[in-house]
Amino acid sequence: MATNEAMVIVGAGQAGGTAAAALRDAGFDGPLMLIGQEREAPYERPALSKGYLQGTVERDSTAVHPPSWYVENDVDLIIDTAVVGIDPALHRVWMVRGRHADYRALLIATGSSPRPLPVPGADLAGVHYLRTLQDSDRIRSVLRHDSRIVVIGAGWIGLETAAAARTAGLQVTVLEAAALPLLRVLGPEVAEIFAALHVDHGVDLRCGVQVAEITGAGGHVNGVRLRDGSQFATGAVIVGAGIVPNTRLAAGAGLTVDNGILVNDHLRTSDPDIYAAGDVANAFHPVLGRHVRVEHWANAVHQPQTAARAMLGHDAGYQRLPYFFSDQYDLGMEYTGHVEPGGYDQVVLRGDTDRREFIAFWLRRGRVLAGMNVNVWDVTTAIESMILAGRPVDTAKLADPGAPLESLI
Ligand SMILES: Cc1cc2nc3c(=O)[nH]c(=O)nc-3n(C[C@H](O)[C@H](O)[C@H](O)COP(=O)(O)OP(=O)(O)OC[C@H]3O[C@@H](n4cnc5c(N)ncnc54)[C@H](O)[C@@H]3O)c2cc1C
Ligand SMILES: NC(=O)c1ccc[n+]([C@@H]2O[C@H](COP(=O)([O-])OP(=O)(O)OC[C@H]3O[C@@H](n4cnc5c(N)ncnc54)[C@H](O)[C@@H]3O)[C@@H](O)[C@H]2O)c1
Repeated sequence: MATNEAMVIVGAGQAGGTAAAALRDAGFDGPLMLIGQEREAPYERPALSKGYLQGTVERDSTAVHPPSWYVENDVDLIIDTAVVGIDPALHRVWMVRGRHADYRALLIATGSSPRPLPVPGADLAGVHYLRTLQDSDRIRSVLRHDSRIVVIGAGWIGLETAAAARTAGLQVTVLEAAALPLLRVLGPEVAEIFAALHVDHGVDLRCGVQVAEITGAGGHVNGVRLRDGSQFATGAVIVGAGIVPNTRLAAGAGLTVDNGILVNDHLRTSDPDIYAAGDVANAFHPVLGRHVRVEHWANAVHQPQTAARAMLGHDAGYQRLPYFFSDQYDLGMEYTGHVEPGGYDQVVLRGDTDRREFIAFWLRRGRVLAGMNVNVWDVTTAIESMILAGRPVDTAKLADPGAPLESLI
């Protein structure tokens, strides 16, 4: 049993910064330490592939809290300092340079890191990943100075960056291994709409391709070669090939790790005094009836509220449905719910897909599992209620924009 009264948060990102506030909001007035390895105080990442990248959003507006907040709330923010080990028996975390801190309860919010592209040349200068403000600064400079880029991976990073680059006037080639962009998340019916969006905006979209090598000269990238021999000349490559959760610390501490840190619906790990939230947490979801690891902003904002209450000994469970948003060119969308790849048997489209003003619903045995509204707003609550109701819906009405969604719940 720990005698120390401190709450310690490892990882000063979206979830870590939000958790510090949630602990204070929940009435915790003891010592509170937030430790992060980046040189920045916690910031939000969504603008890094959108407005900040395009130069329309200020750096300061990405901050989770204003700089004065940490002092005003007596939060000991330690940045530029990696935590290198956790000793659950001693209730202690070890930082670089031999420093340590003891905890009563610990939250691991270490997020995730870009998955390295496993091909020769991936370490050449001019090959960029996008996770941090510094990464976004580097790509922003590419958008200002280069005339063309190759993007590898047509997931959220790849597509949002492609949209920013096309908007900045660059020639853009996107190379995707799967048959369509966003195929795993959206399935072929809706993924095709995103493919058309980018082709219509002048992206050279190549799907179903295998990158063999990133070529270079003098240590700098000069092109990308595919397995079929085709080549794309470029001075800059952006890689968005997915992420891996940062589980090394948890595994080293003997916590159960399986596609992220395994936690229950209270966000408690296999150690009763250690919790996890955000991208790194593979949390049991009572509504979905299984563990899910959600790699999106809203999850990193909401899970810490539950984790903070649970750390303070309150009976708190997390059962919000996954939710995320994206903006690409003039398309804005929100997605609510969760569908495993191949986990649906019907897609219902409501509205005008050609004008990209519609809602897509994914169903299984007549029940709505997820919904995505594209350039249609204020429907998230209705979609959420429909999913939570778990009843079969009238699909003809669902497809009819004239039938109020509320009448289908
Ligand atoms: C460019 C970009 C755009 C995005 N856009 C959207 C969007 O439009 N909509 C959406 O829903 N989601 C979006 N996301 C996803 C969203 O930003 C993430 O889900 C969210 O940041 C996860 O928060 P987190 O706190 O779990 O992880 P992070 O924000 O990654 O924070 C984790 C922090 O922990 C630090 N850390 C790791 N290990 C250690 C250690 N050992 N010691 C100390 N510190 C450590 C990391 O350096 C990092 O600072 C985007 C992500 C990116 C990268
Ligand atoms: N709007 C949003 O919600 C948003 C925006 C940006 C980033 N993010 C988050 O950031 C993280 C990273 O995004 P991401 O786009 O890198 O991951 P992702 O998982 O969304 O997409 C990765 C894509 O890369 C493809 N790919 C993988 N290896 C490849 C290879 N060798 N060659 C070609 N294609 C390959 C995959 O098939 C997939 O389409 C995710 O967690 C994502 O949820 C979210």
